[in-house]
Amino acid sequence: MKVVTESAGADLDRIGIPQRFPPPTEFSRAAHVRDEAALEGIRFEAARDPVGYWENRARELHWTKPWDTALDRSNPPFDKWFVGGETNICANALDRHIEAGRGDQVALIWEGNKPGDVRTFTYSQLRDEVCRVADAMQKKAGLVKEDRALIFMPMVPEAMITMLAAWRIGVTFSVVFSSFEAEPIKERILHTGAKVVFTANGFERGPKSYYLKDRIDEAVQGTEVEKVVVLDRDGSTPKMVPGQDIGWSEFVADASTEVPAVPLESNHPSFILYTSGSTGGPKGMVHSTGGWMTGVQESARLVFDMKPDDVFFCTADIGWVTGHSYTVLAPLLHGATTVLYEGTPTHPAKDRLWDVVERHGVTILYTAPTAINDLAAQGAEWPAKHPMSSLRLLGTVGEPISDTAWRWYYENVGKGRCPIVDTWWQTETGHILISSVPGATAGKPAWAGRPLPGVLAEMREPIYEETDDGTKVRPGDTPLSDGSKGLLVLTHSWPGRALTMWGGVAEQERFVRTYFLGGPDGPYVPMDTAIRDGDGDYRILGRADDVIITAGHNVGTGELENAIRQFRKIAKVIVVARDDVRTGKAIVAFVVPNSEFTPQDPAAEAVLAAEIRKFLKENHAAHWQPSDIHFAPTLMTTLSGKHLRRLYRQLAQRDVEGLRRAPRATLAMPDEFDRLLRTFGLYDRVVGAGSPA
Ligand code: WT7
Repeated sequence: MKVVTESAGADLDRIGIPQRFPPPTEFSRAAHVRDEAALEGIRFEAARDPVGYWENRARELHWTKPWDTALDRSNPPFDKWFVGGETNICANALDRHIEAGRGDQVALIWEGNKPGDVRTFTYSQLRDEVCRVADAMQKKAGLVKEDRALIFMPMVPEAMITMLAAWRIGVTFSVVFSSFEAEPIKERILHTGAKVVFTANGFERGPKSYYLKDRIDEAVQGTEVEKVVVLDRDGSTPKMVPGQDIGWSEFVADASTEVPAVPLESNHPSFILYTSGSTGGPKGMVHSTGGWMTGVQESARLVFDMKPDDVFFCTADIGWVTGHSYTVLAPLLHGATTVLYEGTPTHPAKDRLWDVVERHGVTILYTAPTAINDLAAQGAEWPAKHPMSSLRLLGTVGEPISDTAWRWYYENVGKGRCPIVDTWWQTETGHILISSVPGATAGKPAWAGRPLPGVLAEMREPIYEETDDGTKVRPGDTPLSDGSKGLLVLTHSWPGRALTMWGGVAEQERFVRTYFLGGPDGPYVPMDTAIRDGDGDYRILGRADDVIITAGHNVGTGELENAIRQFRKIAKVIVVARDDVRTGKAIVAFVVPNSEFTPQDPAAEAVLAAEIRKFLKENHAAHWQPSDIHFAPTLMTTLSGKHLRRLYRQLAQRDVEGLRRAPRATLAMPDEFDRLLRTFGLYDRVVGAGSPA
């Protein structure tokens, strides 16, 4: 095993000094945190005693029993926050505000795919609906505390209501994004042991219609699922399995609107959410109740400056963690209004998103760089048609935002008067950990900012190891000085961190191995490369492992390779990423067809590429689409048989410098390397320039 360390260079010099955008005075004046001095005060308090700081934040929520231990670190890294404390997420999200006399405030504005298809719910109305579902869950589906349910639904109020109902009675759910197909859904049903599935017949999003029920019919085969609750969203009449399937209206008919919120221990699993890993299957991240809720509430207060009169619009689907933490929970914890939108940003008109913002008086908009790039590509005349004067703050998440996209968002959407928060976090972290605090700190395009108070981060030297599975990276023990590129690590526990991975001993071990590369007592390693400047601000550069973040979706290369290999015409495949202006990263697949198919003929290759795309879309997930598919007679390995993912990445990226350094002499198939270089039109530049090999 060879260990190579990357010398810490003056990476910052290459980036240059960013322009700063100080917060507008009107924003700061009304903000929870008004200036740098106030923020420093909070940071000081939190750094001196992070656990005490988070305890004070947790006390802002309603607990039916106080905790005995604020942070239990007796079994690292399986930290537990607020142990022995009892609370309920649904009661904090709804009942707390109703009891405070705010039952008539609008909690949810839903906008359907069709413009003007709007439903609103006050806090009282939402609680009634939630109670009805919670009651039916108990009486008609036999769900009790600690059971698991799977939610596979479009962006409709009922999806959110189902999540809140499950929280009310202690049922742990797993939401599966609506683009997944039967096989991954079934995998999640089996892995969670879900006994009830909540779904819809079908729905429309943008110009397309989707059908969900047939995927569920297939996915529940051979599982322990006892009930499938089907919402009618598209008017179709699916085949209903007697005794198993039940329509939504029948399910909630005669249900009670008085269902007490069950007190749950702080570490009760509120949800399981699957995310991709660089190797192996999806990881079911388990989130807590009290810790997660505390982190979500506090991050929304600091980062979004959230207040009860805000109308918060997060465009993330409920199938992703951003949907859980910020579309559903954060606005409700703050007694604000959340906007749930079923459609796409540009259908039926290019200004649809701006129209939604305008009509509903959205004050805070939270979206992803890919969406901003897409919207920018439509032209500035579309946001120009809408003053959007209600907006006071913009947010971005999910992938690095380019300087250009940041400025476009700032000028055309925020009209130069709304601060932008670039928020860094992960499915595993549960809530935002790094961001600027908009009333206090100036925005810096493409820099996320500093860790929030109570979050302790460090930069570490990356150590690369060549293993049989390719190149692995882990953090060294040396903290890096400012201005150099390295691995971001988190050196102290925080309340929203995933408790573990769902499953047994194997998953617990995988949890430790994946995130605590220095051992159970070591720091949490998010596997992101970053750079920190002299102000202590972090710029997140991207993944340091083989996970591809494309259009804000997290795709594991291993998982995608497995999926492509299932297609009968394929023998071998390697998947890598290359930079892409629109989606951040584009997926590139190098595919070796099996012996019945000899690529050569471009027309036959195009047909096979289309078949692979169709296979993925129909059997796995619509968002798992390679941008480029290259056919090859074989995959290169080293003489010792090691995979050469790095070489394929350099090819896809057209990284001439990297390719020149490639170990041609130790390649098992130098001819294949030359062939690929020719295919990419790089042969002369790489070999002709006198490769060291
Ligand atoms: C990965 C986590 C957190 C919700 C959405 C994604 C990347 C996330 C940023 C940001 C640059 C970012 C990281 C991270 N990422 N936010 N503001 N700037 N990169 O959740 O699917 O778990 O993906 O998204 O690479 O590790 P996820």
